[in-house]
Amino acid sequence: MYASRISRLTGSVAREILSHANNKDMLSFAGGLPANEAFKGLKLPDDEGSSFQYGASEGERSLRELFAERFQAKGIDCGFEQVLITSGAQQGVDLVSKLFIEPGVTVGIEKPTYLAAIQSFALFGAEFEPFGLEADGPNLEEFEQVLQKGDVRFIYLCPSFQNPSGICYSLEKRKAVAALLDEYEVTLIEDDPYGELNYTDACTVPICSFLKKAKWIHFNTVSKILAPGLRLGCLGCSPEFFPHLLKLKQAADLHSNRFSQAVVHQWLSDEDLMAKRTQQLRSLYHEKQQVMAQSLETHFKDLAEWNTPAGGLFFWLRLKEPVQIRELLGCCLKQGVAFMPGGPFFPTEDEGAQFMRLNFSNPPVERIDGGLKVLAEEIGKMVTLVV
Ligand SMILES: Cc1ncc(COP(=O)(O)O)c(C=O)c1O
Repeated sequence: MYASRISRLTGSVAREILSHANNKDMLSFAGGLPANEAFKGLKLPDDEGSSFQYGASEGERSLRELFAERFQAKGIDCGFEQVLITSGAQQGVDLVSKLFIEPGVTVGIEKPTYLAAIQSFALFGAEFEPFGLEADGPNLEEFEQVLQKGDVRFIYLCPSFQNPSGICYSLEKRKAVAALLDEYEVTLIEDDPYGELNYTDACTVPICSFLKKAKWIHFNTVSKILAPGLRLGCLGCSPEFFPHLLKLKQAADLHSNRFSQAVVHQWLSDEDLMAKRTQQLRSLYHEKQQVMAQSLETHFKDLAEWNTPAGGLFFWLRLKEPVQIRELLGCCLKQGVAFMPGGPFFPTEDEGAQFMRLNFSNPPVERIDGGLKVLAEEIGKMVTLVV
């Protein structure tokens, strides 16, 4: 006999595709993986043995201080006592689900939104109130309607180069969203894994830095700027949330991996090194993004619509004609090319049937065009069949 929530537990399509993508011949546009070439130069620090011992659930104090400084530099009013080191931002999503959600609780989400947030919120029994996204952030009318319903426990947002849409909220929309959250006193859960992968001068100021009344939790991670295998992230939060999140963290895994904390401390404490690394990542990914943009123009012009994102790791495509997207995925995997179907980014999969997400950071730059050609050909075949 399992807990009733297990009937709400959906598998992650992304992780299923990832298992195919681990096959080294597979060209994957599916995951949100950093470039393998970006891991060169990452080294384990010398450790005098302390990392072998159990550590504090809240994380190493020196690392919490470094993250607090980074938050403050972005305008977030956050002392180290409000910082909890987590096993990736994903653990933040899990802890927030446990803190706030029980069956029937409503949460406000962007449409589309991060699939593993939907997976976690749904597991704990959340009902979803989605609001639409425009090129510069939420449709404010729809956003306010969600808040007006009065029973929304929190709003979950990824305002900078959102996963999957790549949308980055404008400064005006960030301020407007904060003002509405303050007016209705609804808690903000802000997820920011991509803010530093900015290829233009897009605004990435955290929305929680504008809040005056509403409470907040802000996730950060080193997965996209250092290495996801470290499983290391953190959250900063309104002081009243911290004791609860700390106990949930204790119950979940005692504390995050101390070797990873030591590696991350070594990198983050060297500002010049981090600045150089971030700059290198930006130029590497921007170059790959431009190659993908060019190939999309060549192969997808008649098949789909998209915007070139100002940062992050993804193109988000809307196919002009409906196709059986899971069938399409099966055909493409057989040809050695993976992509991410849009369905899992919506509370009901059907809504995403015409969308696909393409990652440009992980595929080798010289294979992007060939891979997209295969994808376009497979889509073309299906569209022809439907017509
Ligand atoms: C929006 C968003 N939140 C959280 C995560 C999970 O990040 P982490 O690797 O730090 O657990 C991801 C990973 O892709 C993401 O896109």
